[in-house]
Amino acid sequence: MSKEDLLLKNINGDKPFPICFDDLEKAVAEKIPVGPYGYVRSGAGGEQSLRNNRNAFAKYSIVPRFLTDVSNPDTSIELFGKKHPTPFLFAPVGMNKMAHEDGELAVVRAAEKLDMPYIQSTVSSYALEEVAEAAPNHTKWFQLYWSTNEEIAYSMASRAEKAGFEAIVLTVDTVMLGWREEDVRNQFSPLKLGLARGNYVNDPIFTSTLKDDSFEAYVEGVLANIFHPTLNWDNVRELKRRTNIPVLIKGILHPEDARLAVEAGVDGIIVSNHGGRQLDGVIGSLDALPSIAEVVKDRVPVLLDGGVYRGIDVLKALALGATAVCVGRPFVYGLAYDGEHGVYQVMQNLYSEFKVSMSLSGQRTIAGLRDITLVRE
Ligand code: FNR
Repeated sequence: MSKEDLLLKNINGDKPFPICFDDLEKAVAEKIPVGPYGYVRSGAGGEQSLRNNRNAFAKYSIVPRFLTDVSNPDTSIELFGKKHPTPFLFAPVGMNKMAHEDGELAVVRAAEKLDMPYIQSTVSSYALEEVAEAAPNHTKWFQLYWSTNEEIAYSMASRAEKAGFEAIVLTVDTVMLGWREEDVRNQFSPLKLGLARGNYVNDPIFTSTLKDDSFEAYVEGVLANIFHPTLNWDNVRELKRRTNIPVLIKGILHPEDARLAVEAGVDGIIVSNHGGRQLDGVIGSLDALPSIAEVVKDRVPVLLDGGVYRGIDVLKALALGATAVCVGRPFVYGLAYDGEHGVYQVMQNLYSEFKVSMSLSGQRTIAGLRDITLVRE
């Protein structure tokens, strides 16, 4: 057997590809400059929240069942009346041009091929209308950052609705920027580099507030609007009134906030600590999930993100009450590594591992995952 034959090729890939998150992270560290790499990789402060996300998964072990005929697994789920073949979504991640010139356009095309819903960030490099055009028939949701001038927020939400986005995801944990030491160390501010222009420069309300059409005026305008410490439940209720598509809230960690969200009429919750990038020292998303699922009682879907880097993590999240999961850094690394193909490959590998794990746990359906026995250290 030749050395070439002995090389471990990706199970599903058409060319060699880093097989797990750690391999991919290492490969990307060598591929892109330290500023963007540090921006994607890091968490806030001393990175306790970032570590908590991964550690939360490691605390759980699965006690599998056997002899259950797992020859025909069904990994499909339903969200807002629509069937999806997998329980994976793309988490909203801003400024994708820092990973690859094709940015969000490459990501949404890969998401379409995988048939996994795509959530576009407010601070994307490409405008929501451009993303819609790149994958007009694919399920897309729009993540909304509130604006100090709230008419900008409503304008973006209505543009998204008009462009065919099927839900609004209001992120509530970013009322101001987290304490990001890595970016200070690297003196890297993608906002100031203009990487978040897409949705702003195409917004008639936003542009009407600028003093001129210079780059400086745009950056000043974004910085004046993007952090919004006054955000409160009245804003959520008003957004619900002004929107005809489902509204989800992203960034919930406390069960009491989950209860208030359902009372405010939101259509879904994303349990998230923003990938450990906002408040440092917070609970890992998976550790926050069970008490939130208990309060919500399946009245609305409960999604989870943060540290979902293996197929087996999805099993644990769904066993603990999540309806589906969102994935962040893995697809961004895939994008940096090999554009659209990289995104496709990393998500395909995650899904393949999930599917195998589901069968090996003895379950045939997503609903069955709730019956998995987990032990917690
Ligand atoms: C994010 N995240 C994020 N969230 C959001 O609501 N709007 C945004 O624009 C961004 N931007 C963003 C950029 C980068 C580089 C990262 C890594 C993350 C948070 C994201 O949606 C998600 O909550 C986390 O990424 C989930 O954690 P993992 O999967 O990265 O561990």
